[in-house]
Amino acid sequence: MAFPINRQRRLRRTEALRSFVRETRLTPAGFVYPLFICPGEGIRKPVGSMPGVCNLSVDEAVKECQEVYSLGIPAIILFGLPEVKDEIATGAWAEDGIVQRAARAIKAAVPNLLIMGDVCLCEYMSHGHCGIVKKTGGPTPETEYEIVNDASLDILAKTAVSQAKAGIDIIAPSDMMDGRIDALRTSLDAHGFENTPIMSYAAKFASGFYGPFREAADSAPSFGDRRSYQMDPANAREAMREIELDMQEGADMIMVKPALPYLDVIAEARMRFDVPLGAYQVSGEFAMIKAAAKNGWIDHDRVMLESLLSIQRAGASIILTYFAKEAAKLLG
Ligand code: PBG
Repeated sequence: MAFPINRQRRLRRTEALRSFVRETRLTPAGFVYPLFICPGEGIRKPVGSMPGVCNLSVDEAVKECQEVYSLGIPAIILFGLPEVKDEIATGAWAEDGIVQRAARAIKAAVPNLLIMGDVCLCEYMSHGHCGIVKKTGGPTPETEYEIVNDASLDILAKTAVSQAKAGIDIIAPSDMMDGRIDALRTSLDAHGFENTPIMSYAAKFASGFYGPFREAADSAPSFGDRRSYQMDPANAREAMREIELDMQEGADMIMVKPALPYLDVIAEARMRFDVPLGAYQVSGEFAMIKAAAKNGWIDHDRVMLESLLSIQRAGASIILTYFAKEAAKLLG
């Protein structure tokens, strides 16, 4: 034999050996479970494209949070379906907004569960965009309207402050306006919330994988798309620049979103930045696995755990996932 065989398989022979040399151990300690809060009482309205996920009224959300916490999941993130939508996103920052009411009720019932607040305007705007819309009358569909950056910052900052007032522990802006971290940090500090951390959706791509979420949160834009503010899926270097800027502006934690199609961005961010790193396994990633498993084409639990493990292996210690409850049950 010219070459001795390098016997890599020696350490794969039994589960005892495999477990002994395992590099990544998936744990629910960094899981965040997303909840969609709707008006009413006693409501659990299933989301068609996301099996197992429901729109929950505040009372049902409280029950859900008790279960989530008992499974060892440390955190949730709240999204709201307001009673009314308008063009200044009143429902996002109202003292008695749907997310603010839910946060107060959940804090009272499960005080040690961390509550993250998604700060964005799309769910609260009649047009479904993440910022203020101005008609500019440009000659092409792309230039006919503008999503106005700086005016949107004021509303986002008001939203963050109202969430902090309601007891939300971590502010998570997902709108992708420029300068939002600075705007939110400044406003939070001015209102006495200098201890409230910000987790920035720093590298958020304009992704087709958000489809089912827009059904769940009723937030699809009524015209145009989000490509003038969310990132081009082709750009990983630009993602590093986005993260760097958010950190300069004061982000305490950063996030990459979606997760599985952007593992390269997660891995690079992990190498470059020394702050807690999260990844959002989004609705479309969840729906794909659910749909294929339902057809019997893949093994649900195996693929669920493998996808989460891969996100953790790439470098995310915090994972926002609709699988949080199911995975936590399996991981014990
Ligand atoms: C709000 C927001 C979105 C998601 C999280 N926050 C939707 C979007 O940007 O269109 C997507 C989450 C998911 O798909 O699970 N802007």
